[in-house]
Amino acid sequence: RGGPVIAVDGPAAAGKGTLARRLAEALGLPYLDTGLLYRAVGRIALDAGRDPAQPAQDIAHALLATDLQRPDLRLPEVAQAASKVAAQPAVRAALVETQRRFALDRGAVLDGRDIGTAIFPDADVKLFITASPATRALRRFLQMGGDSTAPDCAARLREMEEALRARDMADASREVAPMRAAADAHVIETDTMNAQAVLAEALRIAQARL
Ligand code: C5P
Repeated sequence: RGGPVIAVDGPAAAGKGTLARRLAEALGLPYLDTGLLYRAVGRIALDAGRDPAQPAQDIAHALLATDLQRPDLRLPEVAQAASKVAAQPAVRAALVETQRRFALDRGAVLDGRDIGTAIFPDADVKLFITASPATRALRRFLQMGGDSTAPDCAARLREMEEALRARDMADASREVAPMRAAADAHVIETDTMNAQAVLAEALRIAQARL
């Protein structure tokens, strides 16, 4: 490989994306949000009116025709569909090479659920970023422009926390490449940290290993 690989895994809305993007910038490495690949496959199923839990056909071809910058890949219903397609062994298998190839030239920072366990078990640095469901729901709520003084705020937060928990449960309990921290991953609990502190800690860990 032409450079180091840094795996950033963890549950939904733990701050993996923000960290991975900043880490890549700081280290001058390419960055791949692997969740977008599964979201794109989920989106394709929804657009075709198919049940995302049913086996998908011709994933590689469909992916080529999908713009990964589409803002609608960020919608909560697409996250749910992504989690369903992501449990299918054929979908995961179709995406392995894409992810490995991405890091071939210059190394990369990749964020996802199985980067340190399945895609790059030999990654130079493995980070597992996590926080309590309540913290993650609040961060996602504020990130989506939620108003914490609105009368329905508590109800919406509870709803988001429930959705995050359900998706994490599905991602952690599927048979193929379940979400979990690799045995040699550095786990960072971010409940009491801001994004800057998480980046500083990740850089400290990465620099000791690179
Ligand atoms: O990270 P993000 O929330 O965008 O991921 C959406 C879904 O894609 C996850 O809930 C998970 O089911 C799936 N995923 C995965 N493996 C990855 C990245 C995402 O299974 N490496």
